[in-house]
Amino acid sequence: MESKIAVLASGAGSNFKALALGDTGEGKVDILLTDNENAGALNLARELGIESRYMYPGKFRTKFGIKEEEIWAQYLLNRGVELVCLAGLMRIIKGPLLDAFQGRLLNIHPSLLPSFPGLDAQGQAFNYAVKVAGCTVHYVDSGTDTGPIILQEAVPVLATDNRDSLAARILEKEHIIYAEAVKSHFQGRAVYSKVVR
Ligand code: GAR
Repeated sequence: MESKIAVLASGAGSNFKALALGDTGEGKVDILLTDNENAGALNLARELGIESRYMYPGKFRTKFGIKEEEIWAQYLLNRGVELVCLAGLMRIIKGPLLDAFQGRLLNIHPSLLPSFPGLDAQGQAFNYAVKVAGCTVHYVDSGTDTGPIILQEAVPVLATDNRDSLAARILEKEHIIYAEAVKSHFQGRAVYSKVVR
């Protein structure tokens, strides 16, 4: 039986597309939810024939309103969603969504965590002059870009790189490891309380 995946995105949606088209094992992308009416991800969802929906996130800029987060969580639970994948959702999750989906809530972040959490991780890494950058898929806990790590991929920083060329190469790797991490989750190889170390 297929398990329903919900992808939550605010932006272009390339990771959403990678999850929709990738090998995610028994999981199948069932819906895209966005907090941004102009998200490119909405166009991708239409092209891919995947249901999508804008839902009001509340009046704050970087977090959900508590009432709105409850509505998002209830919507996903009522729909029978098994796994929630954050894919460029530019909002912190701390309340009802985390309570409802802890251990079933994944995030992708464009750095080798725990280095460079937060905004513009690629720019942070580039400005630090790291020689190896990368990306991480992890379970979400109550911190910002913390939580047990499922998969990481390193990306060498080239002498010719600028912030954007580095970000583009990191993004290519994100598309590969996100589907792999979801597959691991469904195969029971990655479990929130017991991520394989
Ligand atoms: C991706 O690089 C993702 O890792 C990042 O936003 C981008 C979304 O791109 N997420 C974060 O920085 C979260 N802290 P996409 O919309 O094309 O998938």
